[in-house]
Amino acid sequence: MQQTTKSAAICVVGAGHVGLVTGACLADMGHRVACVDVDGEKIALLQQGRLPIYEPDLQPLLEKGAASGSLRFTTSYEEALEGVEFIFIAVNTPSTPEGAADLRHVRDAARCIGQALKGGRPIVVNKSTVPVGTSETVDHILSAENSATEGLPVVSNPEFLREGTAVHDFFHPDRVVLGCRDPEAAARVAALYRPLNSPILITDVKTAEMIKYASNAFLATKISFINEIASICEGVGADVTQVALGMGWDRRIGPDFLRAGLGYGGSCLPQDVRALSHMAYIYVSHRQLLNAVMQINVDQRRRLVRRLREVLGTMEDKPIAVLGLSFKPDTDDIRDAPALDFIRLLEYEGAHVRVYDPQAADQARAELPDIAYCTDPYEAAQGCLALIIATEWDEFRSLDLARLKECMAKPVLADGRNVLDPTTVRQHGFTYLGVGRPEQVQPPIILEPGQREA
Ligand code: UDX
Repeated sequence: MQQTTKSAAICVVGAGHVGLVTGACLADMGHRVACVDVDGEKIALLQQGRLPIYEPDLQPLLEKGAASGSLRFTTSYEEALEGVEFIFIAVNTPSTPEGAADLRHVRDAARCIGQALKGGRPIVVNKSTVPVGTSETVDHILSAENSATEGLPVVSNPEFLREGTAVHDFFHPDRVVLGCRDPEAAARVAALYRPLNSPILITDVKTAEMIKYASNAFLATKISFINEIASICEGVGADVTQVALGMGWDRRIGPDFLRAGLGYGGSCLPQDVRALSHMAYIYVSHRQLLNAVMQINVDQRRRLVRRLREVLGTMEDKPIAVLGLSFKPDTDDIRDAPALDFIRLLEYEGAHVRVYDPQAADQARAELPDIAYCTDPYEAAQGCLALIIATEWDEFRSLDLARLKECMAKPVLADGRNVLDPTTVRQHGFTYLGVGRPEQVQPPIILEPGQREA
């Protein structure tokens, strides 16, 4: 295997979440990176040193890259491609109405590269999630556009970055996956990642693409599985948080992605499960497995609304507070956010919704124009008959419950992410609704090896 590559000239196509994190982190590793995007406004913002997205730890990398000249932004493909050795394609692939991945942006990117590349033999690295078997699309377009891009090596490099921890994830990957027909090209891309000290798996292209879909669909399945267990726990009177604890200590299961709640959202998990279910349909496999995962996911929101209806009666004209809008904490991303879906259900019930989110309010305004946006949890709770935690921002773990109760017309707290201690909330006089938690929670006793029972 080749050694590390110290300072390469790299073009990153797409200044979205994945493109920006990839570009800024590669620049931090000592490479010379040009990020190109067709969105002039976004590029102008980045040229002023401002991020169009919220991602912890990214701003310092942006500033460092700009100061050293190792990270540039442009709308010109010609400029970005001059003298490059690697071209990373990191554009989004939204869902079509049938649930398949829409390749329009990937095709456009390949076409623009084909038209603008003047010479050299750069390696094209595809980070965008494309349906298994369609990766040759990039190959074909590059070959059709221009003799300079004919037969360029294309490496598939699925990304596993999580929003909110994307910079950390880039520098500490569990693994790097590369798919390529040409072992020499794969080795050159592997050399870029060698300083990260993670295992690198090189496979054929289709296998690499499938690893991405299978990983995300498995994570979604884990979440829907625990949510289904939560729903059974509500029936039998068990506590899902302790069930997850006991399951997670089994090394074959693992503790991650076993948090029951309002379900998964974001730009990847919902879209990838839909796309894999579509692939299962095309290849006559069992799409009902992933369809159940999706159904359980949306039902999580409907089930909490039904439980609120049982406690409050009709919600017509009643003020209800919701804390959290983003699809998870530490991001302002509201794409496919469970909170938004939940709020729409409350609106359908006739409730007047008052929300607070530390980051995502501006993003949500266009999608939810008829709700009241508040500047803190207590303002949101003012005069409300119930308050729901829809996203587990850290600040919601330390709510001043006494103050919250003072603000509310009726003390009903629905903890859609199981972040609060039910006993404490009840001691403050609230009716508490968790996800998969019994009326009386018996705290777990954990004895470490060698420790005696008290
Ligand atoms: C995901 C994958 O983790 C990442 O590898 C891939 O590259 C992109 O998609 P991301 O969308 O940033 O990353 O979010 P993630 O942290 O995976 O969470 C996804 C959703 O699942 C969130 O809505 C989160 O709230 C929810 N979730 C997660 C649960 O409901 N329960 C859990 O136990 C874990």
